Amino acid sequence: MKKLSQWKDKALFTPGPLTTSGTVKQSMLRDLGSRDSEFIQIIRDVRHRLVDLAGGNDQHTAILVQGSGTFGIESVLSSIIPPDGKLIILVNGAYGTRMLKIAKIHKINTQEIIYAENTCPDANALDHILANDPAITHVAVVHCETTTGIINPIQTYGEIVHKHKRVYIVDAMSSFGAYPINLQDAHIDYLISSANKCIEGVPGFSFILANKQNLVANGKYARTLSLDLLAQWQGLETDGQFRFTPPTHVILAFHQALLELEQEGGVAERGLRYYNNYQITIEQMQKMGFRPYLEENQRGYIITSFFYPSHLNFHFKDFYERLSEKGHVIYPGKLSHADCFRIGHVGRLNAADVRALMLSIAETLLEMGIELPQA
Ligand SMILES: Cc1ncc(COP(=O)(O)O)c(C=O)c1O
Repeated sequence: MKKLSQWKDKALFTPGPLTTSGTVKQSMLRDLGSRDSEFIQIIRDVRHRLVDLAGGNDQHTAILVQGSGTFGIESVLSSIIPPDGKLIILVNGAYGTRMLKIAKIHKINTQEIIYAENTCPDANALDHILANDPAITHVAVVHCETTTGIINPIQTYGEIVHKHKRVYIVDAMSSFGAYPINLQDAHIDYLISSANKCIEGVPGFSFILANKQNLVANGKYARTLSLDLLAQWQGLETDGQFRFTPPTHVILAFHQALLELEQEGGVAERGLRYYNNYQITIEQMQKMGFRPYLEENQRGYIITSFFYPSHLNFHFKDFYERLSEKGHVIYPGKLSHADCFRIGHVGRLNAADVRALMLSIAETLLEMGIELPQA
């Protein structure tokens, strides 16, 4: 086995798990007892820092839930919607569709409003629907639809949901930590994200920033034991502990990642680094002849989808493998109607890493005998 100092992993230009810092990885080299006071103190600090990152207020609380991001979403949807409630989901990609699937499994009365993957859900339509259907109790939307990288205007939707006095749920899985989000300003009752996205931790838990008042009033509708959001919160509040085995090492890594986010200058600076990564990517990729899937005004700086070039020699699997051999991991597309691949801009990567990827892509095109028409 290689020594840690000799280890050089491939750079992950993906939506997560992401490339993490050496110090985040190193922080996992400990065995802490899950009931140990040091570990409980770390959980407390993590929870405080998460609420602070979202604008810091007394109304919201942070709840950690074991599992990947989907577990956090399922925990919210299956815990807080009463049997006679009605959920509306604004869908413009695979992760909106996933929420729909979860709601259906739990037999939640749900209406989906489906938009094309390159279009943000229409705020006026939401306003109209809420004004005309008093049965709707909850509204859910994805912030950065990682399917394409589109950024949905969660603040605008939040103002509408608030005006109609409904409960607002935001999947900010791939954006939280890199885009400024203020829970109170955006009127968000439940925000969900996970450890291995823009905070730059490793996979193993999701977290929910929940409106305490709403949680206490409506959290009694849990349809599962392990994903019972209110019970999970009550456990963390009473003795600071998880109800069931916590991912101790992952939480240590996440705590270190939160300290490193602060050292970097917080969400603003992290967002700027990712934005620079995005800028270099888009500029160089277009120069090489690749076309982005989204219009410029819809693109965020988390991940970008590019159309497969229409060249006979282009086969994504081959392209992917050649890049991977050079130490760069990109990501397949997830679109329902277009052949695309994705390049992520997040994780512990900087301008030099992105430039190295761009060189690798240029080299790979040469190897594959692909010359693209210049934009
Ligand atoms: C917006 C969004 N929602 C939900 C998920 C699901 O998270 P996980 O794969 O960790 O379950 C992802 C994963 O990338 C995501 O990007």
